Amino acid sequence: MAKQHARMRPILSPERDCPAEILAAPAAAGPPAEMVFGDWYPALRSGRLRPGSTALTMLLGIPMLLGRKQDGALFALRDLCPHRGIPLSAGWFDGESVQCKYHGWRFEPCSGRCEEIPSLTRFDHLVPQKIYANAFPVVERDGYAWVYVPSAGVGRMPSPDYEPDSKSKSEPGSEPVSQPQAALRNLPPIPELPKFSSRYRAAHLQADLPCNVDHGIIGLMDPAHGPFVHRAWWWRRAASIHEKTKRFEPIEDREHGGRNAGFRMSAHAPSSNSAPYKLLGKPVTTIDFVLPNRRYETIRAVNAKGRERWFASLTTVTPVTPTSCRIDVIAAWNIAYHLPLVTPIARYFGAKFVAQDQRTMVEQARGLRFHPGLMLIDDADLPAKWYFALKQRRLTGEGDHPLCGPVELHWRS
Ligand code: FES
Ligand SMILES: [Fe+2]
Repeated sequence: MAKQHARMRPILSPERDCPAEILAAPAAAGPPAEMVFGDWYPALRSGRLRPGSTALTMLLGIPMLLGRKQDGALFALRDLCPHRGIPLSAGWFDGESVQCKYHGWRFEPCSGRCEEIPSLTRFDHLVPQKIYANAFPVVERDGYAWVYVPSAGVGRMPSPDYEPDSKSKSEPGSEPVSQPQAALRNLPPIPELPKFSSRYRAAHLQADLPCNVDHGIIGLMDPAHGPFVHRAWWWRRAASIHEKTKRFEPIEDREHGGRNAGFRMSAHAPSSNSAPYKLLGKPVTTIDFVLPNRRYETIRAVNAKGRERWFASLTTVTPVTPTSCRIDVIAAWNIAYHLPLVTPIARYFGAKFVAQDQRTMVEQARGLRFHPGLMLIDDADLPAKWYFALKQRRLTGEGDHPLCGPVELHWRS
């Protein structure tokens, strides 16, 4: 039995009691994390990119210029001119091509191909079209521009949006394959939120985390923080903590050589101490974590009339730099589909929930600046241990899946 404590009071209120030098953004960032290249990451919300517009972002430490051409095609360029390294974002975009500010080189942004070097004369033999700025494959899905970030040294990546009408050679007798499909075929599958009906509502949330991606991810899968971080009248009370047993099984992803391996918290009735789940009746929840950074949660329930109600979310934690990351959530549901206020209400509570995690990680980052030793305990931190083992396996190509079969874990939350 847990001991009864006298009423716990906050030690300090950051706004009121914390000296500025302690609260200040860390001069030295916390410890870096190794980043997993060779996969798709959400760069930004694709709705921000109207035809003819651009936006800047940073992904896995790479400055990126994203944009949309007038014909609707998305592009993602490393924001550095291949000539002398000035950011391409310092230059111009006319809806068709990106022009560098320094010497006016002009690039087709989906392929990165240089189309013009204004300084060339008839005495030059240089062919501008042989020069490329660094373009990344980018695909729009679930309201995000997903960018494929290759490992260093894999060479030029054709963009799936580039030359949509061109046909490349395919096996004799088979359908010709358009270049975009051919380009995508050799890349890992693009992540997608599962939806279980044609009509649904959806909402997106986002929060920057000042810690490395590993802390972001193990925070995401941490089962023991709920009663302390997510206290709220509408979610749960601290006193509702109780023992839980959850079954986990490995996700092997053998088809792709274990690239997107992970583990599943097997179908179970969701936490009985979380009020919103009670709205669903008798639902069944599945939670998957798969490399490099994705958590899928689905909750499905069939009502007395045989109609299915469902909620699904995809949460990713994306390295912005080796020492910082960003959490992106897309959720979709068909519950109370026709009530107009449902989406803003869901977004309001969802944002509060994510902000609780964010605030905690801002506080944690204050501690991590001092590079403390850290612990992972059984059973509550076992999913975190599996994550580190899976990530190591992916980075080195060696080792077995840390789960050899289904297991039960026990914790109180
Ligand atoms: S630095 Fe970009 S054109 Fe010269
Ligand atoms: Fe949380």
